[in-house]
Amino acid sequence: MLNYIADIEKEALDSIEKADSRESLEQVATRYLGRKGVLTGFLRNISSLPPGERPQAGKNANLLKVRLEKEIRQVESRLEADRDGEARGIDVTLPGRVPARGASHPVTQVLNEICGIFSRLGFDIVEGPEVETDYYNFEALNIPKYHPARDMQDTFYLSENIVLRTHTSGSQPRVMEKNDPPVRIISPGKVFRCDSDLTHTPMFHQVEGLMVDEGISFGDLKGVLTTFVHQFFDSGTSLRFRPSFFPFTEPSAEVDIQCVMCRGKGCRVCSKTGWIEILGSGMVHPAVFENVGYDTDKYTGFAFGMGMERVAMLKYGIDDIRKFFENDVRFLGQF
Ligand code: PHE
Repeated sequence: MLNYIADIEKEALDSIEKADSRESLEQVATRYLGRKGVLTGFLRNISSLPPGERPQAGKNANLLKVRLEKEIRQVESRLEADRDGEARGIDVTLPGRVPARGASHPVTQVLNEICGIFSRLGFDIVEGPEVETDYYNFEALNIPKYHPARDMQDTFYLSENIVLRTHTSGSQPRVMEKNDPPVRIISPGKVFRCDSDLTHTPMFHQVEGLMVDEGISFGDLKGVLTTFVHQFFDSGTSLRFRPSFFPFTEPSAEVDIQCVMCRGKGCRVCSKTGWIEILGSGMVHPAVFENVGYDTDKYTGFAFGMGMERVAMLKYGIDDIRKFFENDVRFLGQF
């Protein structure tokens, strides 16, 4: 008798597992557990068994009943879930979607590269405030109020003495006030000017550089900047130092590099000159040293300020600076 129950169990579990629709599952349930089902019939007729076998047979049959009900419920909810998925148009066998991978903004990539090159040359990296006082942005850099040089800077004034910094040069007096020579720093960050066209945005990025010690000469300035350009672009890129004017450097020079687009032959990007300006530089003006209390007989130094978008545009061949800030993934995804 117990063998008979075991046979029913095997057979029933087998059919439940094979059921692939609600209808076939229903049929299995009816066959074993329905009013005229195999198991129901067996339990009803248990009194026809010899008295000694009845308790064990009854117990086993009841346990089997509970087990089959449970199995059926499980398969039922699985079939239900599959059907729900199909109804919502989900193909559960498809592989998952791979999320799109992000990357650093091209200006950030260039910033990291510039920091890497100067770090290896022994420069520390410091940051200054974007909201700056008139003093650090102008006065300390030998640009007094009403000096015509302020005109070049298209300044956003927040109040009479507070500005959005127009360049990173304010980092020079800030660092020198707090540190005695030798000083060797770069200071990257956002700067702001009221200006907007193909080559200007009201916010852009600069990197300031400053090196001060005994015996620093224009030769050191040329050496450091040449090393930088050769590492950032390539070692075949020529540089040109052109006399210029900044109130906080004397002598001053603007640095051009050979046009990376046409290799100096002359093209649209370099306005047929073969050269492109990338930074302003010079020997730190003694008036700046005096403002921070450095001994001008003992120390000399050089400084430079470079436009980060400008070098990024040259490196990647980008023709419109505004593309950096439009947040168009078709553009940004290329870097
Ligand atoms: N601050 C200058 C500018 O924004 C660049 C510069 C920096 C020039 C340091 C000389 C020395 O144009």
